[in-house]
Amino acid sequence: MKDIIKAIEDASIRIKDLIETGDTGKSENENSTGDTQLKLDIASDEIIEEIFAKIPSIKAIVSEEQEAIVDLNDNGEYLIAYDPLDGSSLVDVNLSVGSIYGIYKDEFNAQNIIASVYVVFGPRVEMVVALDNCVKMYRLLAGEFKYIQDIKLNAKGKLNAPGSTQNCWAPYHKTMIDDIFNDGYRLRYSGGMVPDLHQILLKGGGLFSYPGTTDRPKGKLRQLFEVFPFALTYEFANGGAIDGLKRVLEVETTHIHDTTPCFFGSNEEINRVLEVYKNNAR
Ligand code: AHG
Ligand code: MN
Ligand code: MN
Repeated sequence: MKDIIKAIEDASIRIKDLIETGDTGKSENENSTGDTQLKLDIASDEIIEEIFAKIPSIKAIVSEEQEAIVDLNDNGEYLIAYDPLDGSSLVDVNLSVGSIYGIYKDEFNAQNIIASVYVVFGPRVEMVVALDNCVKMYRLLAGEFKYIQDIKLNAKGKLNAPGSTQNCWAPYHKTMIDDIFNDGYRLRYSGGMVPDLHQILLKGGGLFSYPGTTDRPKGKLRQLFEVFPFALTYEFANGGAIDGLKRVLEVETTHIHDTTPCFFGSNEEINRVLEVYKNNAR
């Protein structure tokens, strides 16, 4: 596992440079979820694949930006699903973006995720590793990632990050979000799940939601590359991650590019969502 974390550190140093100097324009291609790929999405994907290809403990990888699983080493122990540059469309307006890695064993599904890593590229570069029931944050300082702190959520927070758009929400979802604001929660939503979820983790708690919507009944965020890795991080940080009715780490994966509705937060907010969804969703 150490070699994988080191590989992610090396890739992140190169991706940081790419973000700072690269072309923010579109490519001619679409990814499997139908998004137009930016040149930055493709270039960061290439950096990660090139670095992972040299690690003997990695059996196979799959990227949000590629159609299929890439086999690396038959005798490798780990499978890695990654989103090379989440929120890439925010780079041209100089907002924070990130990379997300889910580390699995045996098969790419929720039951088999054993560790996750995300990297935030903001005014500072920070890496958060969820492993062995702990969540640890590191910061890039003078070319090296240095341990900064462990991360734990409070039972209840103050931030609310509601994804998608109101006119695509179910009426009960809108009522729930309105009620949360009426209870004094502050809106914090940048449109990049990495900085948005990182903020909730570091400020002690709150709720991030990306529900099933009229335009995307199964939500927007991808299970293997985005949702399961953050679910592990939130659970290890004493919070929760649900699809509305159950833990996201119990959601079934039938295809590598499947999406799922998702809610991440501290325990009080997660219980609040469960209560509303139990009585309304079907
Ligand atoms: P990506 O850039 O990898 O396609 O993902 C962007 C995601 C996620 O980071 C963010 O939370 C969400 O899209 C925002 O979507 P909405 O604008 O629909 O809220
Ligand atoms: Mn993404
Ligand atoms: Mn992406």
